[in-house]
Amino acid sequence: ETVTQANIGVVGMAVMGSNLARNLASREGNTVAIFNRSYEKTQTVLDEHPEAEFLPAKSYEEFAASLTKPRTAIIMVQAGKGTDAVIDALTGVFEPGDIIVDGGNALFTDTIRREKAVRETGINFVGAGISGGEEGALLGPSIMPGGSAEAWETLGPILKSIAAVAEGEPCVTHVGTDGAGHFVKMIHNGIEYADMQLIGEAYDLIRRGTGKTPAEIADIFAEWNKGELESYLIEITAEVLRQVDASTGTPLVDVIVDQAGSKGTGVWTVQTSLDLGIPVSGIAEAVFARSVSSKPAQRAAAADLPGPTASPVKDVDAFIEGVRQALYASKVIAYSQGFDAIVAGAEQYGWDIKKGDIAKIWRGGCIIRARFLNRITEAYAENPGLVSLVTAPFFTDVVATAQDSWRNVVADAAHAGIPAPVFSSSLAYYDSLRADRLPAALTQGQRDFFGAHTYKRIDKEGTFHTLWSGDR
Ligand code: NAP
Ligand code: ATR
Repeated sequence: ETVTQANIGVVGMAVMGSNLARNLASREGNTVAIFNRSYEKTQTVLDEHPEAEFLPAKSYEEFAASLTKPRTAIIMVQAGKGTDAVIDALTGVFEPGDIIVDGGNALFTDTIRREKAVRETGINFVGAGISGGEEGALLGPSIMPGGSAEAWETLGPILKSIAAVAEGEPCVTHVGTDGAGHFVKMIHNGIEYADMQLIGEAYDLIRRGTGKTPAEIADIFAEWNKGELESYLIEITAEVLRQVDASTGTPLVDVIVDQAGSKGTGVWTVQTSLDLGIPVSGIAEAVFARSVSSKPAQRAAAADLPGPTASPVKDVDAFIEGVRQALYASKVIAYSQGFDAIVAGAEQYGWDIKKGDIAKIWRGGCIIRARFLNRITEAYAENPGLVSLVTAPFFTDVVATAQDSWRNVVADAAHAGIPAPVFSSSLAYYDSLRADRLPAALTQGQRDFFGAHTYKRIDKEGTFHTLWSGDR
């Protein structure tokens, strides 16, 4: 007997949508309707995956008719105009109570706008961050849905059935209303940038400091992956470094142009955090590091600028262990800053975000999945009002253990003329946080001097302005 109606639909049959649709279809009890603007893509997916028993639609009307009520559809199309076009079309053929999910990489403020507009039609709109790329979409992504509690009731079980599983728990939770899910996905990507850059800095320091080959450094990362740094990114780093280019026989990493691109979510994280007044310096430096790399003209013009003559590292094993510790401490800072941004975003936009749950759903499926995330969940479970992750006892210990190495590595990098922007900015942030007094007092004095901006005093309430000699 052929099934004529589907319980879930997917719009957008490019890489992500088709894989997500196949994931859905592979789960017990699901029949999946599929639609793509141009029908050829739908036809290709049908031809290549007969086992999925998809219900194809050639028009939005046909797509709506093929779905049982309340209709539930996940959009996986090009973020921006594509998403708006599909939402427009679906709101035209859906009815109040139906659910539209945007699984693309939308900017959270777009999601807030779209949710408001769609809600006025009585249709539910859910912006869901989906992480894990192509493989995640097919086998189980980490899913960060926003939207109403009502929509989550219908959607929750479906998303739980397709999400990655970490330690027996599905990597999905209702993050908060409207744009909360896409906001958290954005921060996830920002942390991903910092994590990747830290790994890059560690590699560069080891390579230039010790002269080890990429294959040898691959072994070091593989070793690190057995300990507290265990994570997807460390694991794939070992594989990337071990790869040999077939045509030249040299390490692949040496034939790849050293200019890192970006699709923009890291930039969004930094822009948003600047607006929220949250110093995500690790993420920002990671974004800047990609920008610097992608300026060939400046780099060529600067190539002969003076630098130190590097002396080789004396105790190689101790140096490598120091770099590992520096990486761990800096990573704690990057996450601490990322969670600060989540807290600030939640406050600004009125979301009730459970920080520990976010760390939990990042344990599987997504790019930043790591053993370390359990420690974050525990830290927030112990103290839900934790003001800064780095002040949780576990992380304080990590940094206490690592800090000597961290400082040495940053100093070594400076002495050797090897850039380590995230290592060093994270250390500066850490030292700023712990400082008894900051030179911000002087900044306030300067501001009062040239602009009568006033200042506060440590010994009295109120605001003060000094009649500086320069005023007269
Ligand atoms: P994509 O290349 O971003 O988008 C292509 C899809 O969008 C096609 O199905 C295309 O339809 C459709 N589309 C574009 N404009 C449209 C319009 N005006 N009306 C209707 N459909 C339109 O696809 P993707 O790489 O699979 O990514 C989908 C979403 O997932 C994006 O938001 C992306 O940022 C996000 N994402 C991607 C990854 C990744 O690793 N690639 C990971 C996570 C999330 P036609 O075939 O008709 O052109
Ligand atoms: P994930 O949550 O799995 O990280 P993502 O945010 O879409 O998914 O990005 C995963 C990786 O795919 C990132 O390296 C991203 O590029 P950026 O580093 O520039 O952010 C890349 N990526 C995302 N969308 C892409 C697209 N449409 N085409 C090519 N690469 C893309």
